[in-house]
Amino acid sequence: MRAPLAEGSAVVRFHHVFKVYRIVDTGVVALAGVDFEIAEGEFLSLVGPSGSGKSTVLNLVGGLDRASAGEVEVEGRDLGRLDEAELTAHRRDRIGFVWQGTARNLVPYLSLRENVGLPLIATGRGGSLRRRRVGELLEVVGLADRAGHTPGQLSGGEQQRAAVAVALANLPAILLADEPTAELDSESAERVLSAFRDVNREFGVTVAMVTHDLLAARRADRTIRIRDGRIAPDTHSLEPLSAEGSVELPGPAVDALAGSELEVEVSDGEVRIRRRSEPARRLPSVARSAEPSPEPPDAPDAPEPPDAPSGPDPYSEFRRPD
Ligand SMILES: Nc1ncnc2c1ncn2[C@@H]1O[C@H](COP(=O)(O)OP(=O)(O)OP(=O)(O)O)[C@@H](O)[C@H]1O
Ligand SMILES: [Mg+2]
Repeated sequence: MRAPLAEGSAVVRFHHVFKVYRIVDTGVVALAGVDFEIAEGEFLSLVGPSGSGKSTVLNLVGGLDRASAGEVEVEGRDLGRLDEAELTAHRRDRIGFVWQGTARNLVPYLSLRENVGLPLIATGRGGSLRRRRVGELLEVVGLADRAGHTPGQLSGGEQQRAAVAVALANLPAILLADEPTAELDSESAERVLSAFRDVNREFGVTVAMVTHDLLAARRADRTIRIRDGRIAPDTHSLEPLSAEGSVELPGPAVDALAGSELEVEVSDGEVRIRRRSEPARRLPSVARSAEPSPEPPDAPDAPEPPDAPSGPDPYSEFRRPD
């Protein structure tokens, strides 16, 4: 049995988490000591450059992969201590996934009704409960009138919203979404983000969303940045840049740089400001750690998780709050 979480406690807790992928005789350090928490009911976005470790974080939370070292705690359980069957049950019962692109989310030859019902069949839910829950979920994502259509008959944005309904079918505690709006136009992206916001507010589902889109990230309660396998220090929001190129820096940046001659570096959608005389030293709020990387622990590749076995149904009913 899972012990109930104490009020206000984190639903996800990373403690010095390392992930090293072994390729032949070299190791790729995907996560180099990550510490962070996600509060219950929070809508969190994870941003960072390509290859920084964002998907790795989601895979660890979802139990698709195991940490090489450190603790990944979800709902009070250290996933590193679960055996394969328990980890599979965690994935199946507690986690919903929405992947980038639609191909991985939906079965192309099944209708939306059947797609959303599939996870319920897999866990042995009966006909009338299944029908009711499928109908409610399609309504939540605004696709009730498309229940009989196959994914190929829907737009990309509609397919992603259907994927949200599939991910929610088993009432997960945590919804993990990896670049859910990457292939969508802004209007479709907006509707997908609204679907996340709705399930987060209406059902209290904790949402962790990886995105490259800073506008999408802003829809979340909080954004954390990952850089080179580490959580980057908190960033400060700024007012929009004026047409003349002036912007007011936040207090800590002014304190750090006041009176200095500055230079800026522009790369890959990022602007770094630093003292001109000390190009090697960087602002803490935007810098990579100057310390050498901690030696990642030795670890074998995580084994492939087996297919889902069945288990007891922790829910008997799908209810909307009144
Ligand atoms: N299965 C794997 N085998 C070897 N290396 C991997 C594997 N998966 C990820 N990596 C490496 O781990 C690092 C982090 O990868 P990850 O997929 O988490 O990045 P990401 O931030 O999601 O990037 P993107 O924005 O491009 O999706 C990268 O250097 C990547 O090459
Ligand atoms: Mg990724």
